[in-house]
Amino acid sequence: MSLYRNTIWFLKGIHGYTRKGFEAAAKRFVEKDLDVSVAGRTFMITGANSGIGKATAIGIAKRGGIIHMVCRNKDKAEEARGDIVKETGNKEIYVHVLDLSEPRKVWEFAEAFKKKYKSLNVLINNAGCMVKQREVNADGLEKNFASNTLGVYILTKSMIPLLEKSTDPRVITVSSGGMLVQKLRTGNLQSEMGQFDGTKVYAQNKRQQVVMTEQWAKIHTNIHFSAMHPGWADTPAVAAAMPDFYQSMKDKLRSPEQGADTVVWLAVSEAAVAKPSGRFFHDRRMVSAHLPLAWTHSPADREQKFMVLLEEMAKSFQPH
Ligand SMILES: NC(=O)c1ccc[n+]([C@@H]2O[C@H](COP(=O)([O-])OP(=O)(O)OC[C@H]3O[C@@H](n4cnc5c(N)ncnc54)[C@H](OP(=O)(O)O)[C@@H]3O)[C@@H](O)[C@H]2O)c1
Repeated sequence: MSLYRNTIWFLKGIHGYTRKGFEAAAKRFVEKDLDVSVAGRTFMITGANSGIGKATAIGIAKRGGIIHMVCRNKDKAEEARGDIVKETGNKEIYVHVLDLSEPRKVWEFAEAFKKKYKSLNVLINNAGCMVKQREVNADGLEKNFASNTLGVYILTKSMIPLLEKSTDPRVITVSSGGMLVQKLRTGNLQSEMGQFDGTKVYAQNKRQQVVMTEQWAKIHTNIHFSAMHPGWADTPAVAAAMPDFYQSMKDKLRSPEQGADTVVWLAVSEAAVAKPSGRFFHDRRMVSAHLPLAWTHSPADREQKFMVLLEEMAKSFQPH
């Protein structure tokens, strides 16, 4: 493909991330895809107290789903729970407190959840952060990596046995279009070397989420895995982490509901599971996880090495 066509393709993609892009895409949405009841099905949503996660919880609660909100701040989570119950009339909304950047806590939470609950139909890895300065947690892990990558890895891996026992199991991970300009790295995972750039680290973590999704789909063939890009939505994370972008774009951003639309579609619709597992979605469409120039593809052995590194790291925090 010529550079000209690539540029046009890229600019069209960027335009598609805005509210107008959502409105244009929505013209081809099939209304009955979301005309479903998920009563009796169980959904775990991380970061469900705010932005896209909260809008996702509302979208699913309206359709009767049982929601487990996994949030790091109890007060914010309880307040959001109140809003969700009020807006949807669904009282089966439960709060769990967990900071995903603390790997031991993620293991403990997952084990306790599996003991208490008999099924989990859908896991939605929505929580995410962009910490702009390099910060490490008590375990010495860089905070973006700990929350966006290792926390997602441990939570998903430990929920797989419960998902596998449940009907029509799905795992959805909210990634970002920012990952399109990142190639998977297996070195410097804690960003100790070189100059720290929080935006790039975040985008690398989002690439890592896409690779995890592709790899899990190959191994756990009875679970439907997907990653997605919500577009640019007006949420506290965007306002706080990217203030200049937010100021210049705030009139063009999607609402949290518009950002959550594809998450809800992947979580509840029949149409979503008719698509192959392990793929990347935007506005209810399977899209490439690479730009046309394709310099971001990684060899298979690098992707496997990455998964082995994660597994070793995850195990080192597993309580005995
Ligand atoms: N908005 C966009 O334009 C956009 C674009 C691309 C991708 N995304 C992705 O969309 C997802 C949702 O973000 P959002 O835009 O909706 O922002 P948001 O409203 O700020 O929501 C982020 C959520 O993640 C939670 N969280 C962050 N770190 C956590 C941790 N260590 N443990 C537990 N929870 C944690 C936050 O908790 P607190 O409320 O306690 O901080 C909050 O509930 C993220 O994965 C983000 O990367 C968003």
